[in-house]
Amino acid sequence: MLITPNVFGREIGIVLSGASAGLAPIALRNDAENIVADEQIVVIYDKKYSDKLMLGVVRWVHRLEPFLRRGVRTVYTDHPDALEDELVLGYSNAWVEIYGAITSSGFRENINAPHPGSRVFLVENGEFLSKYIALEKQIVVGEHKYSGWKLPLNPDALRYHVGVFGATGMGKSRLVRALIEEIVEQGYSLIVFDHTGVDYAQPFRAKGYGDHVVESSKIKLSPDIIARLILELSRLSDHYADYIMAATICYASIIEGKHSSVEECFGAKYRVQKKIGGQGKDKWVKEDYMNVLIRAMSYMGARETGVGRVRAFINFFLSDEFFEQLNKRTTTPQQLIDMAKKKKFIIVDLSPDTELIVKQAIIADTARAGWEWIFSRHEPINLGLIVDEAQNYAGEGRSISAVELERIAREGRKWGYFIILASQRVARDIRTSIRSNLGTVFFSKLQSTGDLNEIAGYLDLGRLNEGTLAMLAPREFFVAGLMNPLRRPILLRVREVS
Ligand SMILES: Nc1ncnc2c1ncn2[C@@H]1O[C@H](COP(=O)(O)OP(=O)(O)OP(=O)(O)O)[C@@H](O)[C@H]1O
Ligand SMILES: [Mg+2]
Repeated sequence: MLITPNVFGREIGIVLSGASAGLAPIALRNDAENIVADEQIVVIYDKKYSDKLMLGVVRWVHRLEPFLRRGVRTVYTDHPDALEDELVLGYSNAWVEIYGAITSSGFRENINAPHPGSRVFLVENGEFLSKYIALEKQIVVGEHKYSGWKLPLNPDALRYHVGVFGATGMGKSRLVRALIEEIVEQGYSLIVFDHTGVDYAQPFRAKGYGDHVVESSKIKLSPDIIARLILELSRLSDHYADYIMAATICYASIIEGKHSSVEECFGAKYRVQKKIGGQGKDKWVKEDYMNVLIRAMSYMGARETGVGRVRAFINFFLSDEFFEQLNKRTTTPQQLIDMAKKKKFIIVDLSPDTELIVKQAIIADTARAGWEWIFSRHEPINLGLIVDEAQNYAGEGRSISAVELERIAREGRKWGYFIILASQRVARDIRTSIRSNLGTVFFSKLQSTGDLNEIAGYLDLGRLNEGTLAMLAPREFFVAGLMNPLRRPILLRVREVS
């Protein structure tokens, strides 16, 4: 015998007829009936395959009785007092979903169906599993709920991206924090985008990592985002989008010294006008911006009435402060990438910016800067972008961040460029092209029915059902997919993250 199965824990029953290599019906011993529960790990010893132990998870423990059958009416329904204990011949069966086999050369797929009568042992002491299922490099964020097994997760699979899903309060953000602590030890860098500033910036500041936190109000915005922002805040209709876009790009290129006048922006041969003048030579100033905009509009053949409308709307809806705060944004996305590479992780606190499109733009620009880093060096970047509250950034709607996150999800793996997304819901919150690229998924009790099917659409979840999810407590997450050496769902209790 390769391993004595009872080192793992007590014997709980035998395999019944009808077992296949992936699924075995079992009968529970009388003395084990009350200790066996769904999601416990078991090993099956089949003496015809003495060189291995099959390893699986208990699903659907159910109670039976030969007389009190469904669909059969008995007198005891109306007279339960007459039903003495000796009369009830109750017993329990369950299913074991077989995930693989423990052999002398490690954990393997299981190709043999266990014979009827094979003995089933509960894994009560998960430590023993560590001897047979080990990884060269591993990260640990929690242990199996029943056996205490510290499930090793494979950090190499991070490059296939990670999703964390669960209803509010189940502990997604805490789980992500546990992941952050582990991942930075594995030679990867991380940029964490904190939607509210409460989940990451605050606790990491409290732990003395204040110099890893960057406020989003310091991050430079690209001219096309500034243009979209101006259009949105000034409540101008899309009819004016081209004018605003052209003027904003022109203004930005003038303050960066790439062009010297509006005419030059438009490629005119003659240079009638001088520089924008005023104070706006190298910064954003409302009055100067208006001048550039008006000249750009007339250059583009706008009518007087249109120019008047734009002037009135911008004057009314955009304050001087709006333009001034643009001047405080000096950190470029390229600098963020460099900081992350140097400090291992940084947290971008997105709470100072209230406009969602600014937050989205910062994520999009950072994601693009990552690609620039890769293509200028032609080497793996080994960088992860973490986006919590991902419904704001990766949904089905039109958002620039979703486009960029999708690109990483599709093409990042070769360059060690990955994303970790956390959200309450799966379907609408995360666009299809992103969620179908999530190689590993942690999930707890889910907000909406149907989300489990959604995950099951691209990961093998076996017979796990929503009933099981509904019984989970906070901090309890299933992990399935590539990082999990067993691939299929294992129920973890996430470690304490204070
Ligand atoms: N691993 C953990 N260690 C300690 N406490 C935890 C852990 N997980 C969850 N909690 C407790 O549960 C609360 C909610 O956790 P968390 O904020 O991570 O949930 P969430 O799923 O991110 O919720 P939301 O969707 O509202 O953001 C925490 O404030 C904490 O009290
Ligand atoms: Mg959260």
